[in-house]
Amino acid sequence: MNSAIITGMGYYVPDNIVTNEDLSKIMDTNNEWIIERTGIKERRWINNDESTSSMALEASKNAIADAGIEKSAIDFIIFATLSPDYYFPGPGVTLQKELGLDTIGALDVRNQCSGFVYALSIADQYIKTGMYENILVVGSEYHSGGLDKTTKGRGVSVIFGDGAGAAIVSKSPSAERGILSTHLHAQGEHAEELTLIGPSTRRWVPEIIDNDGKDDQAIYPYMNGTFVFKHAVTRFPQVIGEALIKNNLQSTDIDLLIPHQANLRISQFVQKKMGLSNDQVFNNIQKYGNTTAASIPIALAEAKQAGKVKEGDLICLAAFGSGFTWASALIRW
Ligand code: ACO
Repeated sequence: MNSAIITGMGYYVPDNIVTNEDLSKIMDTNNEWIIERTGIKERRWINNDESTSSMALEASKNAIADAGIEKSAIDFIIFATLSPDYYFPGPGVTLQKELGLDTIGALDVRNQCSGFVYALSIADQYIKTGMYENILVVGSEYHSGGLDKTTKGRGVSVIFGDGAGAAIVSKSPSAERGILSTHLHAQGEHAEELTLIGPSTRRWVPEIIDNDGKDDQAIYPYMNGTFVFKHAVTRFPQVIGEALIKNNLQSTDIDLLIPHQANLRISQFVQKKMGLSNDQVFNNIQKYGNTTAASIPIALAEAKQAGKVKEGDLICLAAFGSGFTWASALIRW
């Protein structure tokens, strides 16, 4: 069986920086509260001419360049997002068109914060079976347009930011290097603890308008913060542990853990619980906020650029988020 390896990483974030200070001018919040509870100092919000798919395009171009391949070598696209350009079709097809990739297949993944790891797992299976040789896996999110930026929404809106990350997943030249295993979980009973209900097929736009939708909290993301926190700090270590056990490895073997950038407090809690050193965990939520499906590929691309991901390193990716869904991947780089 083939093994799949990440041969290129790229990311794109809008140049529009929104600091905690900026937020405190439009809602009742402050820098101290946000930093103490989340670790976030600033995030990016897209410019008017940008979108989920346009950010994905830039991240993809960077990943293709990093892999050193021609874009024509890509034979499949997997696009993870919770903020698609349109209700339908998903943005995978837009990206396929923008890249000029003839008629190759494009799949959209709806697994929120775990979306990139789920997408990577799918790519891994396709490469292993020999169906494809080079797959573009993307996570891109445009949150800023859909947040309640008044004081009512401050518990959620200060956390999320916009951005995109992309990976080229290819057939590995060696059986020793590549994705060792992926582990996927879901618990739908908690779907409404972290959700955006409307507009949806359960609540179409006319219904929202009829009910004077402008004051309707269901048109904004809802998060039961404490409940999410408790589950996240349990599921992250579990799913990382599952990956280590599967491969007869221990937490001391991990060269770099890239957790989904949910909240710095969550990452620090996981780090402590797993007994990992500061050098073993990569965080960049301070700069970008939580970019859900884009957070892991942005962080992985940055870590690689910074020389923190080297050939032979054991890299662990782990995510938890809305669904609930959670997932991990262990990679011998
Ligand atoms: N600025 C100032 N005050 C605020 C803000 C804000 N942005 N948001 C809420 N507050 C206030 C609340 O109104 C409340 O005031 P009150 O005591 O007068 O009623 C007070 O701060 C405490 O609010 P809580 O919601 O209880 O704050 P908590 O300590 O639980 O922190 C947080 C909220 C940061 C969301 C926390 O629950 C948490 O870390 N949750 C984990 C979930 C998470 O980070 N998810 C990330 C996205 S999901 C994912 O990616 C998995």
